[in-house]
Amino acid sequence: MNSLIQNCCAKIGKIFTGSNDIPVEYENNHIIHTQQFNPDWIDMIFGDANSIWNMFKKGTIHRSLGHSLEGKRAFIIFTEPSTRTFYSFWIAAETLGMKCNPSENAKQISSLVKGEPMSDMIEVLCQYYPSLIIMRQSQEGMMEIGAGICDKYGVTLVNAGDGSNQHPTQALLDLYAIQRRFNRTTNLKIILGGDLRYGRTIHSLAYLLAKYPGIEMYFVSPKELALPKNITEYLDKHKVKYSVGEDFRHLKGWADVLYWTRVQVERIENPEEKKRIEKASERYVLSKNDLSVLIGPESLIMHPLPIYTEVSREVDSDPRALYKTLQVQGGLMIRTALIARTFDIEIPRV
Ligand code: CP
Repeated sequence: MNSLIQNCCAKIGKIFTGSNDIPVEYENNHIIHTQQFNPDWIDMIFGDANSIWNMFKKGTIHRSLGHSLEGKRAFIIFTEPSTRTFYSFWIAAETLGMKCNPSENAKQISSLVKGEPMSDMIEVLCQYYPSLIIMRQSQEGMMEIGAGICDKYGVTLVNAGDGSNQHPTQALLDLYAIQRRFNRTTNLKIILGGDLRYGRTIHSLAYLLAKYPGIEMYFVSPKELALPKNITEYLDKHKVKYSVGEDFRHLKGWADVLYWTRVQVERIENPEEKKRIEKASERYVLSKNDLSVLIGPESLIMHPLPIYTEVSREVDSDPRALYKTLQVQGGLMIRTALIARTFDIEIPRV
């Protein structure tokens, strides 16, 4: 196991203990959830991402890193739709010289369609000598099961989004965007809004922000889409400052960051409930007027994308909106850095 991550895991074990913390005992550097990350390790990844970005800009990326992981193979298996995560992981793995076997809709084209369990599929893929499996799927708990299977074969598993549970690499890239703009990840006031119940990016980001001092979070959503209790319990346990509300428009000039999300209607099975939540969500469409909750011109408007109707298009052109620029490009840099570090590749500082 990479000694840096081993140290980080050991520290996390000491700092965060108890029933709400998932013990980090994975081998092979699996990336499963944001509780496993440690601020020192995150700083290192951010430094790597900055250098990788400079290499892209200078056109030296292929010369510098293009042969780093030659001979290694990555399966990129998605059973839920994706634009950003799928392509950025694919580009990241290829940038480092890996051979990639991507499947953007494995639920339609693999034997999953015939009822093959995901755990069997993971075990089978492990037979083909991959080094890495990057996986998006909907079954909660499958990442932990998959990590156990991958451990038997020395394969690393990366969670690229598991249902309404977590999306750890999205949270890392979100924090990276914040760090790039503010040059800090501490002492920030953040409004997180939209779908807090099913929004895996919110869950991962809340756990991640909880690691930094001086963070204050305001969670806003219709009551039907409130934050799961296990996360509020975690924040309470770690004495993180936060509030919960059904409105946010009174918070004039309060926030450094406004992080908005789409209602994940596809996860609501009951048609009556779906209708009720869609109706309730109409009050949560972000307009230009709502940006008065931000402190000023240096503040940030963030969204993991895709956007459906929850952000007015007039917000897109606001220079504080990062969701089509820094968050997207930074995601490629973060994912390249993550894969490199998984295999102990040192990124030269440029
Ligand atoms: N933010 C995000 O996960 O986007 P995709 O679903 O397009 O990958």
